[in-house]
Amino acid sequence: MKKITIAIDGYSSCGKSTMAKDLARKIGYIYIDSGAMYRAVTLYSLENGFFIENAIDTALLKAAMPDIHISFELNPDTQRPQTFLNGRNVEDAIRTMEVSSHVSPVAALDFVREALVRQQQEMGKAKGIVMDGRDIGTVVFPDAELKIFVTASAEIRAQRRYDELKKKGQEASYEEILANVEERDRIDQTRKVSPLRRANDAILLDNSHMSIDEQKEWLTEKFQAAIHG
Ligand code: DC
Repeated sequence: MKKITIAIDGYSSCGKSTMAKDLARKIGYIYIDSGAMYRAVTLYSLENGFFIENAIDTALLKAAMPDIHISFELNPDTQRPQTFLNGRNVEDAIRTMEVSSHVSPVAALDFVREALVRQQQEMGKAKGIVMDGRDIGTVVFPDAELKIFVTASAEIRAQRRYDELKKKGQEASYEEILANVEERDRIDQTRKVSPLRRANDAILLDNSHMSIDEQKEWLTEKFQAAIHG
């Protein structure tokens, strides 16, 4: 069976990662969460004092880019992919509100995007990959055989992120999360470099009123059509 490239883009917290991860596991493809890579660069910047009053010092980050090494490994118990920053497991550390509220300016930097896009293209060279993000179908893999663009209302996305943080026992305020989701939508869509937009050949999925199982079924159908097409 020929292997294809699957690009899943869309708004923050719309369940892209869950559906991409499940599909990859089911069909035996590699899964890469490109947002985790932008989050890891942000965590590194926070830990190394590159943020001064919420503004990123771009010169410091640019100089540090060669020292930032991001990789993914499967957790042997859960078989879930985990993000590593310079050999340290940062899977939980990159999902905090602090990282969420600092990531957009980092993801808007051209030199950060160039470095991460290059790594992402390298990871997908052999195909058989599901990658999710904002610019996968437009910039990283413009020739992907299957492109999905996912969306849901901001309120539903904020509620999902709130539930997720609560489940992990983290402090969360729904209003704060909703404001963060809306702000990130605005920055993601209006930034100069690789703004979030639907590729012309991407299939639209609005999952506001879909269950996880319904989504899985929908995606499996699209995958079957793509490999037989
Ligand atoms: O999907 P996420 O919320 O984990 O993404 C974190 C941030 O990274 C988000 O604000 C947008 C940015 N991002 C991006 O600019 N390009 C990608 N391919 C993936 C994420």
